[in-house]
Amino acid sequence: MLLDTYGRVATDLRVSLTDRCNLRCTYCMPEEGLSWLAKPELLTDDEIVRLVSVAVTRLGVTEVRFTGGEPLLRPGLAGIVERCAALRPRPRLSLTSNGIGLERTAAALRAAGLDRVNISLDTTDPEVFRRLTRRDRHADVLRGLAAARAAGLTPVKVNAVLMPGINDGEAPDLLAWAVENGYELRFIEQMPLDPQHGWQRANMVTAGDILRSLRTRFELAPEAEAERGSAPAERWTVDGGPHRVGVIASVTRPFCGSCDRTRLTADGQVRTCLFAREESDLRGALRAGADDAEIARRWKTAMWGKKAGSGLDDPSFLQPQRPMSAIGG
Ligand code: GTP
Ligand code: 5AD
Ligand code: SF4
Repeated sequence: MLLDTYGRVATDLRVSLTDRCNLRCTYCMPEEGLSWLAKPELLTDDEIVRLVSVAVTRLGVTEVRFTGGEPLLRPGLAGIVERCAALRPRPRLSLTSNGIGLERTAAALRAAGLDRVNISLDTTDPEVFRRLTRRDRHADVLRGLAAARAAGLTPVKVNAVLMPGINDGEAPDLLAWAVENGYELRFIEQMPLDPQHGWQRANMVTAGDILRSLRTRFELAPEAEAERGSAPAERWTVDGGPHRVGVIASVTRPFCGSCDRTRLTADGQVRTCLFAREESDLRGALRAGADDAEIARRWKTAMWGKKAGSGLDDPSFLQPQRPMSAIGG
């Protein structure tokens, strides 16, 4: 079991499969991209499956989410999913993606054992999409979303980040669109994880702003506390239900007390928190010949060092060295 000193148990593993991406969202990456991990630094498909297997069979992990960068850029994705789905006890398997290319791969990923997807989409307007992501791919994302729904990768959740002066007026339009199409929309507060260090607390769109904006057009009723569990999203039913909308308010309403997460970067480092400043090198251990028991021991030791929270409210808060795209969100 992956226990920490605050009594939390990590049963949810997020595995980053690549730090690369085919979009350049302004809140995430500069136009020129970042200095990507070199191939030998990345875990191989076998190494990923081995680490997931240790997590599932020895450490009590029950949920595995593949992230990036953009995980659909990883050539071996379907094979990794298939091998993880064959583990016993079978973990629930999900993917967080920008949706580009999902049109072609959704059915195969479903067949390989993927259970559901969360797709990032910040706007209903192709021109705003182009400004935000610096790429003209809005239609590809919409097709990817539709393919995911058709393939049964449900519930399909949509993640939206609102940026001041760009798409902060769009919350009601996005929700109307999501309700019409049967996607579960969640708004994410922008977090200080961008390499450009452009995040400013005074400028960010808060959960309060988002809810006020939504309530100009929709009636929202909070979901029962018990239904949330350890999920980052607080949810509301829309106009009496059954549709729901979520807000992931990492900055203004942190949920670290119930955190059940452990993370693995694409180069095989355990991170105890999105905002952790330390990492623990499982790739090195694997390549030095460590057996499963030793890997499990190191992972447990790393999680024992998990901090109480993100530290975002500490005056001495420092962004982690790695940007979001290299951590996996
Ligand atoms: P579900 O299992 O569908 O609820 O997925 P999720 O919302 O946990 O995952 P997703 O990858 O869609 O993440 C949505 C947003 O939540 C991203 O911006 C993540 O960075 C953020 N997020 C996910 N897990 C955590 C976490 O443990 N802490 C914080 N602060 N943010 C998180
Ligand atoms: N703050 C909040 N969310 C972010 N995402 C990427 N960067 C940030 C950030 N700085 C979102 C993406 C995706 C999810 C994994 O995280 O839009 O939906
Ligand atoms: Fe967990 Fe860290 Fe996220 Fe808090 S900020 S919920 S501790 S990963």
